[in-house]
Amino acid sequence: MRFAFVALLTAFSSAIPKSLAYTWGFPYESQKVRGVNLGGWLVLEPWITPSLFDNTGDSRIIDEYTFSQYQNRDVALNALRQHWETWITEADFQSIAAAGLNHVRLPIGYWAFEVSNGEPYIQGQIEYMNRALVWAQKYNIKVIIDLHGAPGSQNGFDNSGQKMDYPTWHTQQSNVNRTNEVIKQIANRFKDSTGIVPAIAALNEPAGFFGQDVIQVTKQFWLDSYNNIRYPYSEDTTRTSNTVLIIHDAFQPTSSWNDFMPYPTYEGVILDTHIYQVFSPNQVAWSEEQHIQAVCNRAGDMTASGMWTVVGEWCPARTDCAKYLNGRGVGNRYEGTYPGSTRVGSCAGFTGKASTFSTSYKAFLRRFWEAQTITYEKGSGWIQWTWKAEEADDWAYQAGLENGWIPWNPTERLHAGICG
Ligand SMILES: *[C@@H]1O[C@H](CO)[C@@H](O)[C@H](O)[C@H]1NC(C)=O
Repeated sequence: MRFAFVALLTAFSSAIPKSLAYTWGFPYESQKVRGVNLGGWLVLEPWITPSLFDNTGDSRIIDEYTFSQYQNRDVALNALRQHWETWITEADFQSIAAAGLNHVRLPIGYWAFEVSNGEPYIQGQIEYMNRALVWAQKYNIKVIIDLHGAPGSQNGFDNSGQKMDYPTWHTQQSNVNRTNEVIKQIANRFKDSTGIVPAIAALNEPAGFFGQDVIQVTKQFWLDSYNNIRYPYSEDTTRTSNTVLIIHDAFQPTSSWNDFMPYPTYEGVILDTHIYQVFSPNQVAWSEEQHIQAVCNRAGDMTASGMWTVVGEWCPARTDCAKYLNGRGVGNRYEGTYPGSTRVGSCAGFTGKASTFSTSYKAFLRRFWEAQTITYEKGSGWIQWTWKAEEADDWAYQAGLENGWIPWNPTERLHAGICG
């Protein structure tokens, strides 16, 4: 009887195509990701919460590293705790669910898990990550845990924890090894909770634009992350979890990842690409219609890699006017105050509070939002950057909902034919 049952099971399972052998925590093969990033919460960003930085009264404090380095530790810890307690709460998850979204992407730095070598980072983020997971489960929102900062910084951006001209993550194997250990910790923590954490983004935005050395280290890191995330059971290293690995395109064309991690040798991998039109002098000078056309033109990128492709960061903003967006104390391209830029016009009415936005600008934000979500759903979906920002409603999903340029039903269209 027992033998017959096992034989039956074996016969049955061999008839199941391999692609259906896994039950992902979210049906990425059939449903679109519609989500928002919880930016500026567990990883500080000067432009998302300028007040946290201004309140220090110290202009050397430009990222989370210096936030911890140049202040009394108790003062810094109290400010961080107050921020962690209030920036994202259960009410935010309630709104995110009410807005018809199915995912949040939660940036967190390596320093939440491991600090060494005299690094000044202050810990305590994990408790808040855990709270977010409880709220996510309650409101049926899937959480992507996104490693946003690695030792040495993978891109030199302030949002990696440490701003620097040239990043050093890829220059030392010890940095990469430490990152692998953090990924193992994260994978182990969530390997049996894929209904809440269906996917792990192993590293945000490694700076492939610096050259092949970064890209080669990044590719090896993705391969190692595949093993660490998809095979997290140390007692049985052949056993897979249902956790999906998300790799970033390292700012290379999605088509360039076409031969990387080919299916079906590799399963459960999402390619993350980020699309912004605000970080070059050329782009901030575009007309409204140029912005919309440029994003519609990206449709081919959504299917070019052969992997599930999600646009894990993008925004409806069309300028780089948001305070501190280019770094604390740094100017912007739109007004020509950023090095190498030429003034396009005044930032008044383009960022800050929505109450300063004209009717026609808000109408543009709606058209641009629809053009983007329509385009990105030609792939596997989208995750807007970001849910909240203190002084940049042009970026904030929450402000878009409250002020009408983002619909409460994310599939509602006023401009269904906008991309032709
Ligand atoms: C990194 O990890 C590899 C594999 O475990 C090991 O062989 C190597 O010595 C480590 N390198 C450093 C610099 O820690």
